[in-house]
Parts: sequence; C-alpha cells; structure tokens
Amino acid sequence: MGKKILVLTSSGRKNGNTNTMAAAFIKKAMENGHEVTLYDVSHADIKPCFDCKACAKNTTADPCLQDPNFTEVAGLIKNAEAVVFVMPVYWFTMPAQMKVIFDKLWSFIMAGTDITGKEAALISACEEDSMTTFDGLTLAYERAMKYLNWRNVGEVLIPSCFEVGALEKTDGIVKATALANRF
Ligand SMILES: Cc1cc2nc3c(=O)[nH]c(=O)nc-3n(C[C@H](O)[C@H](O)[C@H](O)COP(=O)(O)O)c2cc1C
Repeated sequence: MGKKILVLTSSGRKNGNTNTMAAAFIKKAMENGHEVTLYDVSHADIKPCFDCKACAKNTTADPCLQDPNFTEVAGLIKNAEAVVFVMPVYWFTMPAQMKVIFDKLWSFIMAGTDITGKEAALISACEEDSMTTFDGLTLAYERAMKYLNWRNVGEVLIPSCFEVGALEKTDGIVKATALANRF
C-alpha cells in the first residue's frame, strides 16, 4: 500500500547535492507505489516564528496567523504519512529555510492539532570530510522526531560534497535510493 510522502528540500542550489539525492529518493519511492509530493522550502519565503501564540487560539484553517506563506506547506505536512527532510549542513546545523518549518510546527502543537505518528527521514550533505560535521543537524532532527512522536526511518548523510556535482563521486544516490525502500 503506497504512502503519502512529502519531500521537503531546502537548498538554494536547484541542481545541488541534496536536491540530487531528493530526486533519486523520489524516483524510487514512486516506482515503489508511493504518492510523493515535493515542496521546496528554500524559495517559499516563510517568515520566522514570532512566538505570538495566536496559533493557540486559532480557529481558522491557517495554522500560522502571521504568515499565509506557511499555509500551503502546513497542509502538505498535515496530510502526509511521511516527511523526508532534505537539507545541506549550514553552520553545523540545518539551513534557516528549513529551521522556520521546524519552528512553525509549533503552531500545530499550540493549536492542539494532532500531527503525531508520522514517519520521517533525513537526507543531507556537507563540505567537510568528517561525519561529526552532521552532529548538530542530527541532534536537532532526532530530538524533534522524538518530540513529535514521528518514527525516524533512516538518515543519509554524505560528507565531502562542496561543489555542485560533488555527490557523483560518493554513494549518495545509492543510499538515497535505498532509503526509499525503507518506507
Ligand atoms: C551558508 C552555508 C553554510 C555552510 N556550512 C557548512 C558547514 O558548517 N560545514 C560543512 O561541512 N559545509 C558547510 N556548507 C557547505 C554545504 O553543506 C555543501 O556545499 C553542500 O554540498 C550543499 O548542499 P547543496 O549542494 O544541496 O546546496 C555550507 C554552505 C553554505 C552555503
């Protein structure tokens, strides 16, 4: 039975290393019969969370009253059975574009909207050669998944990728494809 999988990409580089892995993941997931939606958060112009807590008393369909640009992706997250977070390492953690998505998940929690019980995965790349470069990212991701009560299906973390195309010299595509088989 196919699942509704939402893939969130967050690189500014359309043909970059993480988007290339996202494409490999999507191809295999669709071959496996899943219904996949791709949403690029890096060009969505979503504002930060101002902790106004309007979402706590929100009775409208928009989960964040401050930001109509969040509404579309919020709906996709709510309806998804699985969310794949695709993000390069920026400053030893996630890019700001993706961080606002995590911050705004708070609006569901404040509004009492149940988004627990989903599956999730992480796909990332970074410049440095050491796997420890991913520590800040994986800590934030794994703690968030635990908090949300989402099951972490797997992580693909590819070091030594700086320029666009560097991924080709790694096993990133093979691993992203294999990740799709785990859903
Ligand atoms: C603002 C910024 C911050 C970055 N910070 C790091 C870092 O802390 N560690 C690292 O190894 N690479 C860092 N990088 C390099 C990217 O992780 C690397 O180029 C990656 O392949 C980009 O993925 P993309 O091609 O999908 O955009 C940074 C890149 C940018 C643009």
